[in-house]
Amino acid sequence: MSAVHPDDLHAWRQAHVPLFNDNPLKLGIFGQNCSNGCTITHAPTSFEPTYAHNVAISKLADRLGLELLVPVGRWKHFGGSTRFNENNLEVYTWATAMACNTERVMVFATSHVPTVHPLFAAKQAATIDQISAGRFGLNIVCGWFRPEIEMFGAELIAHDDRYRMADEWLTCMKRAWTEQDFDFDGDFYHIKQGFLLPKPVQQPWPAIINAGSSEAGREFSARHVDFNFITITTEEEAAFLIQDVKRRAAAHRRQCGVMTYGLVCCRDTEKEAREVYDSIVRHGDWEATENIMRLLGIESTSFGNQETVRNLGERFIAGWGGYPLVGTPEQVVEQMQKIHAMGIEGFILSWLDYLPELEYFGERVMPLLKEAGLRL
Ligand SMILES: Cc1cc2nc3c(=O)[nH]c(=O)nc-3n(C[C@H](O)[C@H](O)[C@H](O)COP(=O)(O)O)c2cc1C
Repeated sequence: MSAVHPDDLHAWRQAHVPLFNDNPLKLGIFGQNCSNGCTITHAPTSFEPTYAHNVAISKLADRLGLELLVPVGRWKHFGGSTRFNENNLEVYTWATAMACNTERVMVFATSHVPTVHPLFAAKQAATIDQISAGRFGLNIVCGWFRPEIEMFGAELIAHDDRYRMADEWLTCMKRAWTEQDFDFDGDFYHIKQGFLLPKPVQQPWPAIINAGSSEAGREFSARHVDFNFITITTEEEAAFLIQDVKRRAAAHRRQCGVMTYGLVCCRDTEKEAREVYDSIVRHGDWEATENIMRLLGIESTSFGNQETVRNLGERFIAGWGGYPLVGTPEQVVEQMQKIHAMGIEGFILSWLDYLPELEYFGERVMPLLKEAGLRL
């Protein structure tokens, strides 16, 4: 298709790309491609990261009208007794397969910058966008888990340089998606007569998200992506992050929305919901959790006292540090309303047992979200 005029891009994306639709609170699924999903626990579940099980979850999400499916990009596990995230489906292949099994939902690939050349990533993205008729999305991660990056013979470079590299990586991709026969000469990439066909279906390119939370990460999001994902710890910090991302984007004459993520434990009664949450924590794999927190620099010296670190640890066990939505359907909707009121435009969700709990969410929570005006 011919290029949409820059003045019409916003309207084009609103009309054609689910991530930009009119639902006040977009909904998605996070981490369904990995063993243990987003819960670092031995609590019993029927969830398994097989292709067939992933298809069942994605088809249900599609039927319920969710906007996005976001896999975790993972190359190695985090040890512990769960060997957390050990077994996982590769994200670009996964996105293609999920696209072929769905009709409306957007399928993302969570791509590590140093593990794939930007021209190859751009080619895969354009191909999946063609296969899905414009439903592909890219989640960009720079990499922080040293053994993963070193496995590729690459070096885990200094933190802010990772975002400089990501900036070049994405610039090369954007040029490949919109130009032909271009040269690029940067510090990290050199492209001679860059060529790419087919171009993506989405205009000007596929939807892009990123979860950078450092200053360099927020600046990268503001310059380049459509939605930044924040971790909500306190209301004050969330308010600061939301304002900061939007202010930075405005300085680049663009818009960048903000979304978040978290685990859902929803049952008919608060007591039952709390029991599920407590069971996840009680069966938690603290060794894997501490490994992750150490890698992320979350230790008692830099993050306050032992109790703060333990509370954060519980949140990692129950949903990768995301916002826990625990309670009855009414209570979960109340919490989502509160979070939306802060300026959060979307929520990617995980469950201990994705498939049956998503079914319950569709039956019991989604109608209430509609009544609350969070979904059309
Ligand atoms: C919703 C969400 C999804 C993420 N997905 C991944 C992932 O799949 N793989 C990964 O290595 N890191 C992932 N991360 C980590 C981020 O890429 C990033 O490193 C982290 O948020 C810290 O930000 P900073 O690099 O700006 O300090 C994710 C973070 C969030 C909040």
